[in-house]
Amino acid sequence: MTALMTDFPSGAVPAAVSFRGVGKVFSGSRSRVQALDNVSFDIEPGEFFGLLGPNGAGKTTLISILAGLSRASAGSVTVHGHDVVTDFAAARRSLGIVPQELVFDPFFSVRETLQIQSGYFGVRTDRRANDAWIDELLDSLGLADKADANMRQLSGGMKRRVLVAQALVHRPPVIVLDEPTAGVDVELRQTLWQFISKLNKQGHTVLLTTHYLEEAEALCGRLAMLKHGRVVALDRTSALLAGRASTMLRFKLDTPLPAALEAQARVTGRIVQIKTRNAAEVESVLATLRAAGGQPEDLEIGRADLEDVFLEIMQGETAAVSA
Ligand SMILES: Nc1ncnc2c1ncn2[C@@H]1O[C@H](COP(=O)(O)OP(=O)(O)OP(=O)(O)O)[C@@H](O)[C@H]1O
Ligand SMILES: [Mg+2]
Repeated sequence: MTALMTDFPSGAVPAAVSFRGVGKVFSGSRSRVQALDNVSFDIEPGEFFGLLGPNGAGKTTLISILAGLSRASAGSVTVHGHDVVTDFAAARRSLGIVPQELVFDPFFSVRETLQIQSGYFGVRTDRRANDAWIDELLDSLGLADKADANMRQLSGGMKRRVLVAQALVHRPPVIVLDEPTAGVDVELRQTLWQFISKLNKQGHTVLLTTHYLEEAEALCGRLAMLKHGRVVALDRTSALLAGRASTMLRFKLDTPLPAALEAQARVTGRIVQIKTRNAAEVESVLATLRAAGGQPEDLEIGRADLEDVFLEIMQGETAAVSA
């Protein structure tokens, strides 16, 4: 159904996205921020790739450079072999970008917004075929009953759905989503992921940034983690998880955590998670708790998840760049 707008040069198939030594410095009259520092990695056609990192790590800056909205201070970026600066139109046509910020023109209806976007990419020649695709987008994203509503009448979550539809209107082979699920309800998240996963299975490459690490763990085959503008981890999701197969002890606690356990614990309200290496350590944690009069409830022992791995890498204990 979906014809991908790929135009590979004959011979070798280039990476869907290639970042080569990308640097970005923002300099003001008094400040200088090195937002990106020598970022290099490739995303292969058909990958579902996750770009993770704390606030300010440089994710949106990297995506802006990819989108041609911002110029790199160093290095280069290509999309299916097209340089985003010297071959901007071809690179941009291969990309569908869902921006982090909600930006839209309030004077148009949802359908008009999508038709105008279609026009930007010159899909107008086959207007009718694209109207069918626009209907499919509206339907898949739960926007069918809002097609004629004015953009300013939509709720925040609905506007985000329109941004997703807008990014996909020209059927780009590479779909870039910058925090698409921030502030989005559970139902839309599920609809969105089903739809994006379907497009990925059809061959579209997906680059996703999210702070919801369970989403990244479930969806992304490979991950890059950025910290202060540098790649600090780059590997298959399964390898990142396996490389740190530590055991997590999780329980609820109504009394204060004994000081002896504070350093190794992650506490969210009543929920305590403690990383242990083996059964003996689990026993020793429980003994420390008991000795302090603590009564853990809903005790569970499980494998470390992506959030544990992420925190460990961000705390700088180890670097995990293997590819
Ligand atoms: N236009 C700009 N001028 C100056 N500094 C900027 C500009 N845009 C971003 N920065 C800085 O660059 C760094 C990276 O910002 P960026 O928006 O890329 O982070 P991010 O990883 O997307 O964070 P978040 O998770 O909060 O979206 C930050 O220190 C930010 O303050
Ligand atoms: Mg961002």
